[in-house]
Amino acid sequence: MPRSVCWLIMTALCVVIMSWTSAPDAAAQAGSGPSQSLDFDLYRDTVEPILLARRAGNARCVVCHSRGGGNSYLEPLTPGSDSYDEEQSLRNFERVRRLVVPGAPTESVLLMNPLTEEAGGSHWHAGGKHWESQTDPEWETLASWVNTTVATLDFDFYRDNVEPILLAKRPGNARCVVCHSRGGGNSYLEPLSPGIDSYDEDQSGRNFERIQQLVVPGAPLESTLLVNPLAEEAGGSHWHAGGKHWISQDAPEWQTLARWVQGATGGDGR
Ligand code: HEC
Ligand code: HEC
Repeated sequence: MPRSVCWLIMTALCVVIMSWTSAPDAAAQAGSGPSQSLDFDLYRDTVEPILLARRAGNARCVVCHSRGGGNSYLEPLTPGSDSYDEEQSLRNFERVRRLVVPGAPTESVLLMNPLTEEAGGSHWHAGGKHWESQTDPEWETLASWVNTTVATLDFDFYRDNVEPILLAKRPGNARCVVCHSRGGGNSYLEPLSPGIDSYDEDQSGRNFERIQQLVVPGAPLESTLLVNPLAEEAGGSHWHAGGKHWISQDAPEWQTLARWVQGATGGDGR
């Protein structure tokens, strides 16, 4: 075999091995890790006022950052108005969120650009430095927004891992679906189609919408779906007409539900 071909094969092999060994990292980032999102209300109430605030000796953030063009992340203010309505704030929020890394203030350009370099900020910001230290009240407010993340409920995880639990047969008790798809106040599941023992994607979508009312993202023990069928001794509710299905929070089914409520994503196994 000519030497160059041999070399090519080696290189190709190396690339394959490298991508194979780095795959778990990529997967952890993209798929199965908790999905966190930033809080809009907190943004609107605490962050946006800072971007609008007048600044002694410097222009306001909004003055430079609402002019259109590449570094414009704020809507132009409506003439004569000095604040945003809710829809404008929402559009701002969509852009501003791309300038921060949830949970990591010091990796967020929104916080680092106007912070002096001595305080850990970026080397350069054409708009000048607005904060001398990370204990500046404005900086702290932005940091606490970036650090306040709420779990989001993932549909794929729900469909692959949660719904099967609600459909599973239970020795000594009825299935959740038997009692909770009959219509009426505590019905949160669609009736199963006659002769079929699972849901199609549309039905799952409607179930997902209703079940979201029964859970508090990020808080399994405040979620009726998890607390009602859990034994009282294990932290469950006092009463559930449908009986107790899990005697401990270690029950694999309960753990799966908890992971979903805490933001697990994708169809990763139970
Ligand atoms: C005098 C105008 C001016 C002011 C005031 C100003 N900036 Fe800037 N800012 C710029 C310019 C120009 C850039 C792009 C060049 C650079 O990165 O320095 C920029 C870049 C940025 C970026 C990076 C944008 C991106 O898309 O990567 C962020 C974030 C930022 N500024 C935040 C702020 C914040 C927060 C304030 C208020 C505390 C502020 N700026 C005040 C002019 C300004
Ligand atoms: C034998 C029938 C039955 C079974 C089986 C059953 N439940 Fe229930 N469940 C009820 C009834 C009746 C209520 C309403 C009264 C109450 O809260 O106890 C209820 C209430 C609930 C509620 C509160 C609903 C609301 O709208 O506030 C949740 C959540 C719940 N059940 C979850 C489950 C889960 C999860 C399972 C399966 C692990 C399950 N249930 C199994 C009968 C049942």
